[in-house]
Amino acid sequence: MSANRPAAVVVLAAGEGTRMRSSTPKVLHTLAGRSLVGHVVAAARDLGPEQLVVVVGHAREQVTAHLADIDPGVRTAVQHEQNGTGHAVRMALDELSAAGTAVDGTVVVVCGDTPLLTGETLRRLSESHVAEGNAVTVLSAEVPDATGYGRIVRDPVGGAVTAIVEHKDATEAERAVREINSGVFAFDGQLLADALGKLRTDNSQGEEYLTDVLGILREAGHRVGAAVAGDHREILGINNRVQLAEARRLLNERLLNAAMTDGVTVVDPSTTWLDVTVTFEPDAVVHPGTQLHGATHLATGCEVGPGCTLTDTAVGEDARIANTVAVGAEIGAGASVGPYAYLRPGTKLGPRTKTGAYVEMKNAEIGEGSKVPHLSYVGDATVGEHTNIGAASVFVNYDGVSKHRTTIGSHCRTGADNMFVAPVQVGDGVYTAAGSVITRDVPSGSLAVARGQQRNIEGWVARKRPGSAAAQAAASHEETEGRK
Ligand code: UD1
Ligand code: CA
Repeated sequence: MSANRPAAVVVLAAGEGTRMRSSTPKVLHTLAGRSLVGHVVAAARDLGPEQLVVVVGHAREQVTAHLADIDPGVRTAVQHEQNGTGHAVRMALDELSAAGTAVDGTVVVVCGDTPLLTGETLRRLSESHVAEGNAVTVLSAEVPDATGYGRIVRDPVGGAVTAIVEHKDATEAERAVREINSGVFAFDGQLLADALGKLRTDNSQGEEYLTDVLGILREAGHRVGAAVAGDHREILGINNRVQLAEARRLLNERLLNAAMTDGVTVVDPSTTWLDVTVTFEPDAVVHPGTQLHGATHLATGCEVGPGCTLTDTAVGEDARIANTVAVGAEIGAGASVGPYAYLRPGTKLGPRTKTGAYVEMKNAEIGEGSKVPHLSYVGDATVGEHTNIGAASVFVNYDGVSKHRTTIGSHCRTGADNMFVAPVQVGDGVYTAAGSVITRDVPSGSLAVARGQQRNIEGWVARKRPGSAAAQAAASHEETEGRK
């Protein structure tokens, strides 16, 4: 076991979060593609703890199911009544000892509502805790407005941390202190367990305060320390939706800065939004008004935007995508998409393909160099290489009961306004006439014509619509022609 690998990280997430005014539990609200608690769990995972325990209480079925989904290695401990942060940590240690897991070593405690906290800060806290031989080290921060936070009380002589006083229990002098408790701690596990047993509830909230462990350990003669966070915004706790939006903006800024540092051009950071899971290669360019979600990846030289919303979409080298919504799509190298395309799951656009304006695709594979340039729906289809699909074509994939597939070969030129009524197969090098409804397979090299014959009934307007503007127009045209 590495000295800095904590025995356990405990995440406190049992509170209700009433100030969110939401039917969704507070820790399940999301920013940048992850829940609040998901961000904290990811930061905790960065430390490589032997145990990761989340204390759940309010809406615990929902929170527990979410945790199992995002990180099956997480253990949960139930706190039936929210009797305070100290009580919550006690529930976590009880859960571990009930499972026969002794917490020998460092125990890090974090709140489930601080999504901006990084694994790096947690690592620094836990390293300085071990290096200084402390019984407890609190992560503190200097904040512009300390209202509501627990204040760090230091010895006037020497400046050692002596206690944390909750805002509600603080004196005027203590309230003037701007160094606050972030709610994040590193503890010696054994000493923590002993001290938790000594917590009392004679405070303004009638709760077992985790913060009182500091005073208890100090009085027992143990070393108590503080690590001051470099950036106080990192410990921002989310209590309401204004703070959620603020955290979302800060996190987005952090993600954009990292991307730009790695060589991505972001033309307008103020209108570009990223999830934490998005990845880039250098020299990708992101134009204004673009949102990138999930496992989206932008390869080198590609240009995305303006106005794109891509989810779980891979964009190939030098591809160009504008004003497009894509979900679960693969866009090949050098492909051109949009403006105004909608790519749905299972769309695979080959290298140097073109998908033009007002084209919707789903579960469609388009081979290298093929084009679907205008106003079409391509669903459940395979199109070969260097084929051109005429404007306003529809791949009729649904008969009202099941979906069927259309296959079109390579080097085809299908006419405008074609319907491909699946299941149907069109061979290689095929031409189809404009306006065709293709219901039968077309052998390679054929021209398929599948539409009604045109009939012109001469003089119909003069007979059936005498005196109308159309009839006059036709008559004066005839006159002009007659004079020639
Ligand atoms: C707590 C700290 C305060 C610190 C602040 C930082 C205590 C007593 N106070 O105050 O010093 O400045 O965090 O944001 O620790 N929770 C439970 N069970 C409980 C109570 C709380 O799991 O019984 C969880 C909540 O879900 C939340 C976290 O603990 O994730 C903090 O609780 P909260 O009520 O927000 O604490 P604060 O009053 O903000
Ligand atoms: Ca509280």
